[in-house]
Amino acid sequence: MSTDAIVLLKEDHKEIRRLFKAFQDAEDGPASTRGKIVKQILEALTVHTYLENEVMYPEVRKLVPDVEDDILESYEEHHVADVLCFELFGMDAGDERFDAKTTVLIENVLHHVEEEEQEWFPKVREALGRNQLQEIGQRMLDLRPKAPKTPTAPKALKKSLDAVVA
Ligand SMILES: [Fe+2]
Ligand SMILES: [Fe+2]
Repeated sequence: MSTDAIVLLKEDHKEIRRLFKAFQDAEDGPASTRGKIVKQILEALTVHTYLENEVMYPEVRKLVPDVEDDILESYEEHHVADVLCFELFGMDAGDERFDAKTTVLIENVLHHVEEEEQEWFPKVREALGRNQLQEIGQRMLDLRPKAPKTPTAPKALKKSLDAVVA
């Protein structure tokens, strides 16, 4: 199994896209089904965001000054997603705003993931050697079991707050 940081993050993205599609496919089904899928979406996004914020972003910012602006934009995009995740976590799937809020979350995250994959991950791959990317990936694998799983977990909240006041 590869420990390459970019490969690992893209695997997460793939799973996140799969969950988004599951939500969209459940459009005409019962709200409870969409509620369950959204719980999975929130968990996947919380873990992924934590690993990017704790390891990938600060590491890349240090090593590849060229992507500084992309990273700063990414922090802001994560922040918007964090707010939506936090609100959705406390919302009943039957709420009239639940589907709309999830749809906006999906649109935002798809845009963000697209920018990572198309715009700045390739620059990072070019700038860093294979060994460095494997080391960063290994750190994310080691941290993964300790990552928060819900948007209201203290570690997740602290990160969201840091993004506002830092
Ligand atoms: Fe990201
Ligand atoms: Fe990502």
